[in-house]
This record gives sequence, C-alpha cells and structure tokens, in this order.
Amino acid sequence: MILITGGAGYIGSHTCVELLNAGYKIIVVDNFSNSNPEVINRIKKVTGKDFIFFEVDLLDQEAIEDIFNKYKIEAVIHFAGFKAVGESVEIPLAYYHNNITSTLLLCSIMQKFNVKKMVFSSSATVYGDTDLVPIQENSPLSATNPYGYTKLMIEQILQDLSNSDDSWSIALLRYFNPIGAHESGLLGENPNGIPNNLLPYISKVASGEINFLNVFGNDYPTKDGTGIRDYIHVVDLSLGHVKALNKVLRSKSIEAYNLGTGNGYSVIEVINAFEEASGKRVNYKITSRRPGDIAISYADPQKAQKDLDWKAMRSLDDMCRDAWNFVQKNPNGIGKTNLDKKLVISS
Ligand code: WQD
Repeated sequence: MILITGGAGYIGSHTCVELLNAGYKIIVVDNFSNSNPEVINRIKKVTGKDFIFFEVDLLDQEAIEDIFNKYKIEAVIHFAGFKAVGESVEIPLAYYHNNITSTLLLCSIMQKFNVKKMVFSSSATVYGDTDLVPIQENSPLSATNPYGYTKLMIEQILQDLSNSDDSWSIALLRYFNPIGAHESGLLGENPNGIPNNLLPYISKVASGEINFLNVFGNDYPTKDGTGIRDYIHVVDLSLGHVKALNKVLRSKSIEAYNLGTGNGYSVIEVINAFEEASGKRVNYKITSRRPGDIAISYADPQKAQKDLDWKAMRSLDDMCRDAWNFVQKNPNGIGKTNLDKKLVISS
C-alpha cells in the first residue's frame, strides 16, 4: 500500500486519482488544515474506487505509528505541508514546526518500520532567484522565504538520510507552477479567501468575485514586461508522481526532478489564454513588482522525461479551460478548512 500525506490537498488529491486509476492501493492522511472532507468524497466519486483515509496530523506520532503498525506500507508520497510564501513570512515558526518537524517524525517512523521509499513534494522555489533558464536540477539552490527554506531543508534532510543508509530510495519532485483542474470539474485549486497565486486569482476575477487583477509589474526584461513562469497542468504533474513512485519502488537512489513543461508564459499571455477559454473579460491593473518575485522561471524537464519516462502533455489552453470549468462547477470552492494555522505551534 502507498501512504499519501496531505492527500486531500490540491496536488495530493489529483495524484490520489491517478494512483487509483493506475491500480495502486492507497492510504490517505490529512489534517484538513488546507482542505476538507468533501475532497475525499470527490476522489472516490471521480475514480469510483474506495480507499483508506485518516483525519490525522503528521505531528501526532502515535497515530501515524498506529497506521504503520496496522498496514503494510511500501512507500510514502509526502505532500503534507503549509505552502503559502507570504504567510510563511508572517508565521515562520508555524511553517518550520509544521513542515520540518512533521517530516522528521515521518522519516523516523518510516525508518523504524523499514519503509525507505519516498516521493517528496518539493518545489522550483528551491532554485531561489536564479536567472539561469531553462533551469536544470544541478542549478544552484537557495531560498528567499521561510516556505522555500522548509523545502530546501527537507531536501537536505532526505539527502543526508540517503547518504547515511543507501537502502533509501527517494525522488525529490520540484514543481514549477501547477494550475488547472481535473476535467470532471470535481477537483481543483480551492484556496480560501484572497488567493496568492495567479490562476486562482484570475479565476475569481473572471467569476466576478473580485473586481480586477493586480499585475505585479510590467517592467521585467521579458517580451511584454510581465513575469514569465512554467505553468504545468495539475493532472500532468500528478501523472509525474505515479511515474516517480514506479521508479522509487524499483531502485535505490535519491534524485531530484523538475516537473515543468519547459515552456514559459507571461502574465499577460495567461490572462489572454484565460479570457479565450472562459469567454470572460479579466480586468487588470499594472501595479508595482511583488517583493521576492523573479522575472523568468521555466524548467528543463529532460531529466524527468528520460529517467521517469514522463512528459507534460497538456497546453496552457487546457489548463485555463479546466480551471474555469472547476470554478463554474464550484463557485464557492469545495467547502472550507477547519484549522487556524496560527494554532499549530501551540498544539
Ligand atoms: C506567477 C506570476 C507574479 C499573482 C509561487 C510560489 C512557489 C510555488 C508556486 C509552491 C508571477 C504574477 C501573481 C497576482 C500577478 N508554490 N502574479 N498577480 O510566485 O511563480 O510561485 O507559486 O511551491 O513556491 O512562489 O506563482 O502564481 O504567485 O505568480 O501578477 O495577483 O504571476 O508576479 O510573475 P510564483 P504566482
């Protein structure tokens, strides 16, 4: 069986769908700090398959050990973690405690039960403000915010674990900019309140919930002055996890992989593609740059293509069409979360 931490989240839930479709038996754990029970029901509805689920916090060591005691777990896909860059600057202790401590506890339990295969949800944020594009896995690593540091530190923890015991098999998946939604419209990006990221923000402008988009700067050295990113369809990303799992199940090593399309699109190009896909106007204003933003980021995805036999197939138009379909079918999202992150540190 495969244990999925954070399996009720945006990327986690889409990955659960593809794992179930591929015939894997899964156990999902999630504390709903950034999701809710309805997502679990949606995964079952989309796949027509049942699976084991526990509402549990990774910091609850006893509860997690019970799961390893009760089930034969072959590998872990570790998504669980807080992921909002801006919020990580406001509450760094909650981010370090939640993301790092939970991973240390998880790895200790895995070691105790001799489960030494992991796919880790990392991020292109570990490349910091590099200006070397396309970005390769051997590009210099750095961080510019507490969230990025948690990903960098966890990659280092896993590297040192592998160095200490070569029976570990680990894939570090560095996501570029995941957007879009499952074609059914039953799963999608489901942020509460004012979104941080571009696509959910554009979706809320197109649906009329927010009046206009602030375009953070049009004075970057790019084709139209706005920031360029490597947007990847969340289903392509999820299929990359299935391929990475297949690899860690049959090999012993630790490898990082860029999961991106290799193409970069500007903010204006995304706005135009979304207007085309939705038939809606996306009103926007040019404002000043967002602190910490880089001008251009897109992947060199060749290593994942070669090692994992994986390639992103969906276009920007597919991403926008599926994102809009999700918003239309879920105007109020998929329910609300139930945990105030600021309370985590006191638990
Ligand atoms: C994309 C582009 C903005 C919002 C972040 C995290 C990264 C990863 C992915 C977790 C940029 C512009 C955005 C808006 C805008 N998350 N923009 N107006 O910053 O590339 O990456 O999400 O791993 O860690 O840093 O994504 O969607 O925030 O921004 O103009 O209201 O859209 O300037 O050029 P980003 P984003």
